[in-house]
Amino acid sequence: MKLEAVSGPVEPNLVPAWTTDQCAQFRKAPMTFAHRLAETGLFEDEALAALLDRYPDELFDINIYDFDDEGQARLRTGVRGRLPGDQVLEGIKGGRVWVNLRRIEANHEALRPFIQAAFGEIKARLPDFNPVQLNGQLILSAPQAKVPFHADPPGVCLFHMRGRKRIWIYPADEEHMPQTGMEDILLKQQTEELPYRRDMDRVAEVFDLSPGIAITWPLHAPHRIENQEGFNVSLSVDFQTWGSRILNGAHYANGILRRKGLPVAAMSATPMAARVGLWAASLAMKRISLVEDKIVNLDRSFELDGVKT
Ligand SMILES: [Fe+2]
Repeated sequence: MKLEAVSGPVEPNLVPAWTTDQCAQFRKAPMTFAHRLAETGLFEDEALAALLDRYPDELFDINIYDFDDEGQARLRTGVRGRLPGDQVLEGIKGGRVWVNLRRIEANHEALRPFIQAAFGEIKARLPDFNPVQLNGQLILSAPQAKVPFHADPPGVCLFHMRGRKRIWIYPADEEHMPQTGMEDILLKQQTEELPYRRDMDRVAEVFDLSPGIAITWPLHAPHRIENQEGFNVSLSVDFQTWGSRILNGAHYANGILRRKGLPVAAMSATPMAARVGLWAASLAMKRISLVEDKIVNLDRSFELDGVKT
């Protein structure tokens, strides 16, 4: 959604004031902050079951990740089957399943103004932060669920509501987030998972998230998550700024050029004017869709009412 002026009957102070350090760290380093979104009552069982009952099938992802001893993940995706919302909730609570309701900012009328208000408050305290687009995902996950090492193209604020989870956040450098990896993600040649080795954990910053805590990190910083306890509910809000749009467009164009055997410079050595040129080229490339999207046809390999977790 486009960020609009905040209006209507929303609670003020959803994101209590930040310290000078928090303001300085935002988007520069991993940082946590307090939030009050859970006080809306929108994340209790009854409200979630009703939401699951009415949520559009095409925006409803169900995933199970199988992990080997080295922590490498294999993704199985499913469909919700014919279960009512309260039984879907029970299915999530009982296993390793991870349900993702995409585009929640556009499909949850009651939550939408609170997302707008929370970002309005953050924006008001950071003169350099100008998000131009927000997309939300409501993530419901089992006590034993894990999300493998991956990176997201937009910026992310993860607002945690229920349960406890631990997140490892890694540097967004060439060793942990190779430039070609981000090109592949943007060209949708792979899901957002990246090669991971256990020894990378030595450089990770680790945070335990409890209800009422939110976390954010620098753009493209890889991360992985392990739930620690209880049924977990989190709202993940992706934000794009003009800076992230231009950078991601430049990575997209570079990915196409690389596939054509053309030289590609390191992004760290690519000045802003050249990035803007690459971003403009990416818009034309997307229009003629040069790369087949391999993610769309991911197998839907199980139904929730038949799943063995
Ligand atoms: Fe993520």
